[in-house]
Amino acid sequence: MTNQTIEKALSIIDILAMKGRGEKISCLTAYDAGFASIIDRVGIDIMLVGDSLGMVVQGHTTTVPVTIDNMLYHTTCVTRARKRAFVISDLPFNTYSNPKAALKNAARLMQEAGAHMVKLEGARPDCVRSLIQEGIPVCGHLGLQPQSIYQLGSYRVQGKEPLSAQKIRDDALLLQDAGIGLLILECVPVSLAREISRELTIPVIGIGAGIDCDGQVLVLYDMLDIGIGKRPRFSKNFMIGHESVESAIASYHHAVKKAEFPSLEHSF
Ligand code: KIV
Repeated sequence: MTNQTIEKALSIIDILAMKGRGEKISCLTAYDAGFASIIDRVGIDIMLVGDSLGMVVQGHTTTVPVTIDNMLYHTTCVTRARKRAFVISDLPFNTYSNPKAALKNAARLMQEAGAHMVKLEGARPDCVRSLIQEGIPVCGHLGLQPQSIYQLGSYRVQGKEPLSAQKIRDDALLLQDAGIGLLILECVPVSLAREISRELTIPVIGIGAGIDCDGQVLVLYDMLDIGIGKRPRFSKNFMIGHESVESAIASYHHAVKKAEFPSLEHSF
């Protein structure tokens, strides 16, 4: 026996309860065991094995080349190191073009790599329903959807006009009705993210979506300032003023919990 307190591993029920009591949810991407063990130790609630790994780890210019095998490898590395955080893994491009494909690939992320939930981009209630039916928790992803970059043309704020804002609102409700347990909203105006976060009963995690979301996520390499390209405007270099990766990540965690991040400077 040691004096160390062993914290209970978080489940989706714990994450949902955080929204219920108004506690902000901290989330950060993770791709390997080393960083994952620091993120977990700091107390971040959710680790997202994002397909952003295609850009920050593999050096691609988009997330499109990421394969299911890449996701299985990185998710396994993260879940091996995890003790407390809830782990979400991305279904990469073209792995959920129909419910059958979604089921096959999501089941691999859960069974072979140990993910607790899978994330898919866009309004795909058909895929969500079939995953939920098999007991696979799903996280939605609306607003900027990086897997559709070749349709979008550039990584820009979504939902600025009334029609596109209404579509994001409608899709959020559609996905919630289909059974998603969490929603990530990327690069949308603060006011739209606020409305959606208030309207949905499930937690909404923002990235470039303002302070009023139920939680925040950032790409690890951006907030540690070790990314290859330019850091997005909505991210922040948390290494400034910190001598270690662990204290930078702890400072992000506390800033999210105390609703001190993001400021207007990091919002649209
Ligand atoms: O892949 C990723 O890291 C993500 C976040 C940007 C939300 O989806």
